[in-house]
Amino acid sequence: MRVVLVGSGGRETALAAAIARSPTLEALYVTAPHPGWPALAIVPDEPQEPLALAQAMNADLMVIGPEAPLADGLADRCREAGIAAFGPGRAAAALETSKAFTKEVCAAAGVQTPQALIVDRSDPTQMTAARARCDRGDVVVKADGLAAGKGVIVCRTPEEAHQALDAMDRFGDAARRLVLEDRIEGPEVSVFALCDGTRAMPLPAAHDHKALLDGNRGPNTGGMGAVAPSDRLTESETTSLVEEVHAKVIAELARRGTPFHGVLYGGFMLTKDGPALLEFNVRFGDPECQPLMTLWADDVLPYLHGAAAGQLPAVPPRFANEVAVCVVLASAGYPETSTKGVEIPEPDAQEHVQVFLAGARRDDAGVLRTNGGRVLGVTATANDLTTARERAYAAIEGWRFEGSQLRSDIGAPL
Ligand code: GLY
Repeated sequence: MRVVLVGSGGRETALAAAIARSPTLEALYVTAPHPGWPALAIVPDEPQEPLALAQAMNADLMVIGPEAPLADGLADRCREAGIAAFGPGRAAAALETSKAFTKEVCAAAGVQTPQALIVDRSDPTQMTAARARCDRGDVVVKADGLAAGKGVIVCRTPEEAHQALDAMDRFGDAARRLVLEDRIEGPEVSVFALCDGTRAMPLPAAHDHKALLDGNRGPNTGGMGAVAPSDRLTESETTSLVEEVHAKVIAELARRGTPFHGVLYGGFMLTKDGPALLEFNVRFGDPECQPLMTLWADDVLPYLHGAAAGQLPAVPPRFANEVAVCVVLASAGYPETSTKGVEIPEPDAQEHVQVFLAGARRDDAGVLRTNGGRVLGVTATANDLTTARERAYAAIEGWRFEGSQLRSDIGAPL
């Protein structure tokens, strides 16, 4: 199979590593240079437009990693050009780009989500209702659209809620509509399902650690580490959630004529009353993808291509019967900013450990340097969580660079 991979974060270098192991791979094309690509990847000298590259290389499959090109309709353009795309079209990608759309689809599909009020900020009557809701406190104020991961504010008191409502001004069009959702509590878990338009096939659940600092303190990040399979959900609980949530939602999208192809990622909170859906993403989580791809034991391409082309294999993929822990190393200043150009050491490879480069580049002299916020992820595997954590933390010491930041409690018990 001839594959074009879009994106260049830790999620994509992990996907590339899994694709590179595929016995059915003929050629793997990436759209831009990056030091994290596997040796067999065909790397252009300059960034390439993905669809033009796929057409020029006669690709069978485009795997689209990040949400931005999905929101921009890249998967639609691929399908129109006769190329299978792993990733939903723009209409189905609205599950990630519009929280109000998710609420509406879930309601139509009979999927319960926390109680919410949806308001249009340009409507004074609706804003009066929003302020009345804020008066009660215990609310999560969400910008409807994508706001660089900053558009969700969790509020306990009425004062916090009113401040959050005012703060939505800064998100411009992304906050044209707001979702004010009842605040709930509990640990979070990421539940992924491969979807081929009609079927939803569960993958092992994972959990990530979004706050910058130990003990879930500090600002939110894209994720400072992840564990798969998560010890927060059993395999049968994961399967039930996918049947009750993902499968119903993709059935509703198919009914609307906008079928979902790719991976649907449900972010759930495990409350005392059971799991509650907080949000959907329409791509693999990052860093969750790093432990998932490390454990993936089958040929990944029949699954990625099956989801894209409308026919997943009959049986789910096999995963190594181990646990994988990914610890992220971020540059100084992350998440507000990032530090570029700092030299990164490159220790020797270690058994049971994989390193996926993200915000990194190689300079003209071949030296590896920081080039973004989340610089790399170290994923270690073992038969048990304790050993996987120990291996990940021992290995990451060798990768520390000036100003590097990491959490020391990834995978630790709650
Ligand atoms: N790890 C969270 C995300 O990918 O959105």
